[in-house]
Amino acid sequence: MDDEVDLVAGLADGLMLSGIETDIAHSGEEALACLRPGAYDAVLTDLNMPGMSGDELLSRALRVDSTLAVIMITAGSDVTRAVECLKAGAFDYILKPFDLEDVTIRLEKALERRRLGLLTRALEAENEVYRRRLEARVHEQAEQLRTIFGRTLRSFTQALEAKDPHTQNHSSRVAGIALLLAQELRPGHPEFLRSLVTAALLHDIGKIGVPEQILLAPGRLTPQEFEAVKKHPVIGETILKPIYSDETILRVVRHHHEAMDGSGYPDKLVGEQIPFAARIVAVADAYDAMTSARSYRPAMPRPDALEILVRGAGVQWDAEVVLTLQDLAQEGRLDHLPETDSFFWEG
Ligand SMILES: [Fe+2]
Repeated sequence: MDDEVDLVAGLADGLMLSGIETDIAHSGEEALACLRPGAYDAVLTDLNMPGMSGDELLSRALRVDSTLAVIMITAGSDVTRAVECLKAGAFDYILKPFDLEDVTIRLEKALERRRLGLLTRALEAENEVYRRRLEARVHEQAEQLRTIFGRTLRSFTQALEAKDPHTQNHSSRVAGIALLLAQELRPGHPEFLRSLVTAALLHDIGKIGVPEQILLAPGRLTPQEFEAVKKHPVIGETILKPIYSDETILRVVRHHHEAMDGSGYPDKLVGEQIPFAARIVAVADAYDAMTSARSYRPAMPRPDALEILVRGAGVQWDAEVVLTLQDLAQEGRLDHLPETDSFFWEG
């Protein structure tokens, strides 16, 4: 566009003969009003115009369409400004006076650049779609692997428990009791419940690493055998670490045999040093172990087990958790434990 009407009209006719279609605008404002993204390939503009200057038109036109090829027409005295326009994104500048051939050649180059710009943009967009799809697929497959691994771990604990009829479904019951306790003690924390139940279902997974003849020993364990059993919380944490980054799960598995007075294992943690979730699982675990039969003793009546827990409250077990269990027992809520599979976090 240009303020010299005849010159512009002549240029447009000349370009038309070279197969370049043009529209003429008589001011920067008029040119800008016609611009829409993708509507034009190139803009040819004078640098000096009444009203909106060529440099301003350049920056505003590029804001409308960043791949637009803009060529500045300028007098020799304005070369510095024209160079500034190049820095600001103009494709080229043409010095006055110019001939039609020169303009045509430069405009053709500008159009070629514009075509390449559009092609690059399309390829980039396609690339981005492909990258996102690939990312989603990788994410989905990672999730599937974690799910399979989580389910496998759960199957391992079930298989482990199935070897001894006395421990069958022990972890499911521990998870059910732990869930009831947590719903009372920390209501409204779905993430915590999920971590807690998952940890309860897997709390003894480390027993995979304890020799079977010890796990299935018919009588009481020798001190050496007990030392081997005491390794299962750490083994369990090691097994779960590659799949669960959730600290609650890992800490419950490691610390479910700690005691409030520091006499537990593996780290002899004291009182509130023991994670809250581990204190819940410890009570649920002890209650279920006592009220289930073992090869060397019959199941203990529930009131007796509760009595032992109450006596050990604050010493072995968390007093608040024990009292809550007592309440649940009195309300008959331990008779029908909730299902916990829907809370299981597969990884
Ligand atoms: Fe255990």
